[in-house]
Amino acid sequence: MTISNEIINKKWVLKERPEGMAKKSDFDLLEEEISELSENEIMLKNKYISFDPTQRGWLNDAPGYLPPVQIDEVVRAMGVGEVIESKNDNYQVGDLVIGFAGWQTYCKTTPDEAGRFRKLDDKFPIPTSLNVLGATGITAYYGMVELGQVQEGMNVLVSGAAGATGSVAAQIAKINGCHVIGIAGGETKCNWLKNDCGLDEVIDYKNSNVAEELKAKAKDGIDLFFDNVGGEVLESSLNHINLNAKILLCGGISGYNSTEPLPGPRNLMNLVIRRATMEGFLVMDYLSKAQKALEQLEEYLENDKIKHQEDILVGIENCPDALNRLFTGQNIGKQLVEL
Ligand SMILES: NC(=O)c1ccc[n+]([C@@H]2O[C@H](COP(=O)([O-])OP(=O)(O)OC[C@H]3O[C@@H](n4cnc5c(N)ncnc54)[C@H](OP(=O)(O)O)[C@@H]3O)[C@@H](O)[C@H]2O)c1
Repeated sequence: MTISNEIINKKWVLKERPEGMAKKSDFDLLEEEISELSENEIMLKNKYISFDPTQRGWLNDAPGYLPPVQIDEVVRAMGVGEVIESKNDNYQVGDLVIGFAGWQTYCKTTPDEAGRFRKLDDKFPIPTSLNVLGATGITAYYGMVELGQVQEGMNVLVSGAAGATGSVAAQIAKINGCHVIGIAGGETKCNWLKNDCGLDEVIDYKNSNVAEELKAKAKDGIDLFFDNVGGEVLESSLNHINLNAKILLCGGISGYNSTEPLPGPRNLMNLVIRRATMEGFLVMDYLSKAQKALEQLEEYLENDKIKHQEDILVGIENCPDALNRLFTGQNIGKQLVEL
């Protein structure tokens, strides 16, 4: 008898493709017995599941950078699990593993499948490893450092600035000697950015007019804009870009639940006038050289140079709610579910 014979996995599968914000009824929480491990497979007991806005896009039947989650398939998500059984020589019982663990309590997988799992040491708490040292932190690092070429004296704007990606991006810019403006929703998040993270200016887009605020707070213009939001925030920001500015399109969360085609910014000619560039990027393309980012981010954490927050719900039943919190802004920092 192996452990897997005794395990009942609880898993959220996609029942119907959501229209707009996902509803709990778009998913089913099922229980299944797990079959025995085959050669090279490992069994993970999931400890934390990560919630990322991109998961909403994976639920659509539309071409993306990864195939859509299929009906009746476990909802795809990053997470961290502990190896409880292994038929793979590279993984021992007790190892912590980060990868596509899914919205489920156990994950049976071949860990080297497409390189989407890696071992995790226990130097930092797991929530930190899914936040600053996870895909969001690596995104912030490569966006700011490699693509944005962040440098002392730059005027930097970050939208979605209090979130997992945005807060690390904004703080990397501060560490590099930039003047940083952050846009976020609500007083609590804006106060955290100003008082704890040391941003120079904040704009509360839920309680003020972003276009007016930018006029007042971005007087020296914007050299680098790290955009997580898109839509009106992007359009307003384009009116303040400096000569040779760079706009990094990291995400466009304001449109992820849209059921209609999104309007484009009406002022793209500003790119021409200002000889500016706008570039989209995906962290996936940088994962093979994640080590460099991780070493730098670990150093920042060890020296308390980066503040971070994790928002942790407990229990597998909370997965659909956890996803939606990203779109209402209820999440204060990196959204996780602990199992
Ligand atoms: N390119 C890549 O490889 C990559 C990798 C990771 C993440 N991303 C992108 O980075 C962005 C942030 O992701 P995250 O995982 O770090 O999540 P997060 O920022 O921790 O959480 C999402 C935040 O987005 C904000 N938001 C939600 N709806 C909004 C709207 N309509 N307008 C403005 N802000 C809104 C909310 O903050 P407020 O309370 O401030 O509204 C919410 O807390 C997303 O666009 C995501 O797709 C891209």
